[in-house]
Amino acid sequence: MADFLSQYSIQRWLEMCPQGYLEDTVNGHDPGLSEPEEILGNEEIREASIALTVQLIAGERAALAASSGLVNAAPDYASKTFLATQTLDEARHVEIFTQRLMDLGVKKEDVNSTVADYTNPNLVKFAEVLLEKVSNGDFIAGVVGQNIVLEGMAFTVFELLQTTSKELNPKFAQTLAGTIADERRHVGFGENRIGSLIAQHPERKAEIERMQGEMAYHMLATFSDIFTGGASTMTRERDRLAAQGQSIGDAGWHGTDLSTATPADMEAVLADTVLSEFKTRLGRIGLEYQTPKVPA
Ligand SMILES: [Fe+2]
Ligand SMILES: [Fe+2]
Repeated sequence: MADFLSQYSIQRWLEMCPQGYLEDTVNGHDPGLSEPEEILGNEEIREASIALTVQLIAGERAALAASSGLVNAAPDYASKTFLATQTLDEARHVEIFTQRLMDLGVKKEDVNSTVADYTNPNLVKFAEVLLEKVSNGDFIAGVVGQNIVLEGMAFTVFELLQTTSKELNPKFAQTLAGTIADERRHVGFGENRIGSLIAQHPERKAEIERMQGEMAYHMLATFSDIFTGGASTMTRERDRLAAQGQSIGDAGWHGTDLSTATPADMEAVLADTVLSEFKTRLGRIGLEYQTPKVPA
């Protein structure tokens, strides 16, 4: 427990995060960087970037609600302390992605209506499954839903976005890098803390596994909406960049060449990567991964 306490202490968080990788950043990136003209000056790409950023804000708002709710549900002070730091991380994520929305031209007074208009309904359902557990004070299910499922998804989505933004939008890529470092810490806590609780409460397994299956189903439906809905814009942008000798990303993201991938290829590699991470992490905490139904 001593190790656990120091690993997740406020002191450790201060050293790693605000005094570590966030030092000298503003809203998660170098102060001199801004959104590139290729986005701000191209209405189709600007709107697609707004729609994408809204999904990040919606996910982070859910993470903020879940992690703050779990502070009170936690059975021990080490967990409460960690979740308090996580609450601040999630509030920061909401803030920096909201700032990005404004950097993309959304007026401050229009932020909430824009988030409401663009949030994918399947992402709302995904969050509702988790937040119901949290509002019932269900710590074990809440941590699995938040720190394994939601953050496992977020982590991989952010990595994909970071890869595709590295060259084209260093400001966004840097914002994502700090967020990825935070999410890595959150996922680590979930795995370390929850395995022993599941071993003590095997009777909870079936219900928690059901929750994971349901969340994964809504997640796949969200991916499908986003990649199908954005397919023509994504393809046009990929071809426009290729004509200029640029590419949206590395040749080998989990075995897929992002510079030539179709939106369907990208959706497939993203879904496969997230689901296989779920499987690995759930296995480590003693839960059996549930294959979600494939949304129609
Ligand atoms: Fe987050
Ligand atoms: Fe997180």
